[in-house]
Amino acid sequence: MLQGKHILLGITGGIAAYKICTLIRDFKKAGADVQIIATPNALNFVTKLTLQNLSQNEVFVEEFNVKDWKPEHISLSDWADIMLIAPASANTIGKIAQGIADNLLTSVACAFSKKIILAPAMNVNMWNNEAVQQNLKILQMRGVEYLPPESGFLACGYTGKGRLCSLDKIYNAVDEALNYSQMYKGKKVVITAGGTIEEIDPVRYISNYSSGKMGLALAKTANDMGAEVVFITTKDFDVPFKKVLVKSALDMQNAVNEEFDSADYIIMAAAVADYRVKERSEQKIKKGEQNTITLELVKNPDILSELCKRKTSASLEGELSEGQRAGIIVGFCAESENLMENAKAKIEKKGCDYLIANDISRSDIGFNSDENEVTILDNNGAIKKISKAPKNVIARKILECINTK
Ligand code: PMT
Repeated sequence: MLQGKHILLGITGGIAAYKICTLIRDFKKAGADVQIIATPNALNFVTKLTLQNLSQNEVFVEEFNVKDWKPEHISLSDWADIMLIAPASANTIGKIAQGIADNLLTSVACAFSKKIILAPAMNVNMWNNEAVQQNLKILQMRGVEYLPPESGFLACGYTGKGRLCSLDKIYNAVDEALNYSQMYKGKKVVITAGGTIEEIDPVRYISNYSSGKMGLALAKTANDMGAEVVFITTKDFDVPFKKVLVKSALDMQNAVNEEFDSADYIIMAAAVADYRVKERSEQKIKKGEQNTITLELVKNPDILSELCKRKTSASLEGELSEGQRAGIIVGFCAESENLMENAKAKIEKKGCDYLIANDISRSDIGFNSDENEVTILDNNGAIKKISKAPKNVIARKILECINTK
């Protein structure tokens, strides 16, 4: 499965460096090409000659050993399909998290725009250090995956968490990232994000606290997984795929409808206003003498329900024309109470294939937070809980779960 893949392996200074020799052999046996960057401290634990022989490639250590017009930190990052750092020391984790690039390994990591996997290994007290945990969180938020160390007897004499995780786990994570991650290749995924803006007059509007972060994480992850992404958003994020910037629920509905026929997946992560003002005032509404004013609101269309109805009737009546796809429709459900009860009722009422339920009464997840915790319901009654994690990790798990291949 790793035939022809380019694995860039970073090795930092820790006793677990010796274990990585076996992993290099496994990667080579599976057909991968492995290039190694060792920090100077890594060479205190394993020799350059050993790494060179196992990888059958030159081992890079020095940053300014420039032989070519392209410096190593650029050419190696261009060459690699993935970067694995194992063992990853507290020092290197900290530098990468803070954007410090003071040796070849950290410079390459800083210039690396593809997937990075870390396999930390260190003393238990270092692992438990708040700074190390914060740095890992920062990296995780940016899409770096890390494989937590295991508990056991540590080379430093302590017993506890800090031992490099099993080589099988590292191998599988690399394999999965390189192969499995392209599961949306050839699929069109439409994702909505942000709170809709329902204007009252030229200066005021009705909206909600949705930051668009959950939708953005889904869009970026789907893009990384090979999908053709159409991102319909009320927030103007800079993204490397098609973006349709919208304001109101009606704008969003038009944009989604336009993509409906050719979409394989539609994911409604946006928080759509249920009501809009009946008549938007052309001019700023002036403060008058009265102490109260009344805004008359009218119901917005339920975009999700209407998409589901459209899909059902097209499928039932065999109306799907050539090239038209009855895409998988995924709704979100933001609840401040009775989450599961409301979610179960909502999936039934809206008629979508999946519903992602999240609790917006908590400040650490849901609206405008960097993390989320969700429960995925499907229309057969199956339920899957995904525990609290950064939104990009949640996005990946959702996309893996709803994928029908
Ligand atoms: O954007 P973040 O700050 O990251 O926060 C993420 C989130 C909490 C907004 C997101 O995870 C979420 O829950 N989005 C859905 C919010 C919502 O509108 O929930 P709802 O229960 O009111 O609606 C259920 C579903 O129907 C949603 O998929 C919604 O997009 C859709 N809907 C709702 C109303 C409407 N008129 N049309 C719709 O299509």
